[in-house]
Amino acid sequence: MELDPHAKAHERALIIDFGSQVTQLIARRLREAGVYCEIHPFNRVDAAFLADYGPKAVILSGGPSSVTLSESPRADETVFDLGVPVLAICYGQQTMAAQLGGKVEPSDEREFGRAEVEILAESPLFDGIWDVGGKYVVWMSHGDRVTALPDGFEVVGTSPNAPFAVAVDEARRFYSVMFHPEVVHTPDGARLLENFCKKIAGLSGDWTMAAFRDEAIEKIRNQVGDARVICGLSGGVDSSVAAVLIHEAIGEQLTCVFVDTGLMRAGEGAEVVQLFRDSYNIPLIHVEAEDLFLGELAGVDDPERKRKIIGKLFIDVFDKEASAIENAGFLAQGTLYPDVIESVSFDGGPSVTIKSHHNVGGLPERMNLKLVEPLRELFKDEVRALGRELGLPDHFVGRHPFPGPGLAIRIPGEVTKEKGDILRKADAIYLDEIRKAGLYDEIWQAFSVLLPVRTVGVMGDERTYDHVLALRAVTSTDGMTADYYPFSHDFLGACATRIINEVRGVNRVVYDVTSKPPGTIEWE
Ligand code: XMP
Repeated sequence: MELDPHAKAHERALIIDFGSQVTQLIARRLREAGVYCEIHPFNRVDAAFLADYGPKAVILSGGPSSVTLSESPRADETVFDLGVPVLAICYGQQTMAAQLGGKVEPSDEREFGRAEVEILAESPLFDGIWDVGGKYVVWMSHGDRVTALPDGFEVVGTSPNAPFAVAVDEARRFYSVMFHPEVVHTPDGARLLENFCKKIAGLSGDWTMAAFRDEAIEKIRNQVGDARVICGLSGGVDSSVAAVLIHEAIGEQLTCVFVDTGLMRAGEGAEVVQLFRDSYNIPLIHVEAEDLFLGELAGVDDPERKRKIIGKLFIDVFDKEASAIENAGFLAQGTLYPDVIESVSFDGGPSVTIKSHHNVGGLPERMNLKLVEPLRELFKDEVRALGRELGLPDHFVGRHPFPGPGLAIRIPGEVTKEKGDILRKADAIYLDEIRKAGLYDEIWQAFSVLLPVRTVGVMGDERTYDHVLALRAVTSTDGMTADYYPFSHDFLGACATRIINEVRGVNRVVYDVTSKPPGTIEWE
């Protein structure tokens, strides 16, 4: 394993993944506490890996398997001989118990969701959060349970369905919890993880965005030398932060290409140009390609065809502009850590393509460019923090995600300029109301969808026959699952009134109350 220079410069925790849906959240909680950590699948972590990685703390994640089956995953035995603290969560607790000589049995009663843990004895894990005798809310999700602890372990917390909810061996610094401290439904979970890293493992929390920024600049300079770097700006947070960071590192050697597809939100194209060319003085090629994109999309209503057309056109236009840049050696991409983490697959089956996501895939090979991916170690919230560190405006770095194919996938059916204009106006009002109500940062993503359905209405004394607009707003941590946002009826009513009064072409507004799954966030 080649350890990244960023990682080498910091104290490190290691998260061994057994395939839980929420493993990434462990990493996020640690990073929030200033602790650098990486997630690696259990079957990649062996003695050599551990020696090279040099963790100061190890966390074993949850997972879907049953330790009671002979084929189920195990942690490499050397993990327990490293002399560093280990925290084992859920499935991790079961495998640690089984591997160290305890017993795990299938349980008849499965415990999912909210539970209460009663604290029986003190532990540095609970410092400043949980007192002996108190009962605290946690989030459980498990079937099997530990029925006999390995020697040296003591139960310090219990719950009705999980007698060994928290079991620890303070001498060896092995800690285990049957609940998930990493999810928000365990309100004190983040502090418990922080206690484990800082109070128990002695990590100082030296991972800050200021340090990351300086190291990243150094690394970019070393990587690109005097070659030119091309960066495609999408208007989104990731590519923008990558561009500003690279510009700090190599200045004029960076050229940004912004392809304005005409499928952006209101004022977005102008904002990108203003911010990058005027405020940051970054060389920017602005390609106005609305006619080209809308021309190719004319008459097309199939969602996948729309995505394919936009993806291909984008690459063609980008390629043409970028090929004219002399001495170009690198293409910058805003790849994030969640795209890089190797996932644990238990069935080995192929995943189904729900939507073909649009990115610049294929471009580096076609243009014979190497990649610069300065955000590969970061989560989305860290990218935002880095953006702020680099001086990008708050409202810009806090922006909701926006899909590559843009408004085209928010206009089911054929996309036209007229529909795009109606949608942009209505969407701007919706977002304005959300900001005014102070709700923008609570919501993962909010947007409007212009439906290809017309309904009859009455305005003044006149009959109208106009489009239906659907409003969508979801909460999510990573876009993989989502819940609809529970706006008040008054708020929704006020949005509907403003939109219908101010936007010609819309006479009815509906709110989408579908979660993901079964829905997706976007409508196409
Ligand atoms: P879905 O609709 O699949 O979206 O639930 C999950 C997240 O991904 C965004 N999204 C995209 N992002 N290119 C992107 O860069 C795409 O083609 C694309 N399609 C969906 C979506 O907005 C949500 O945040």
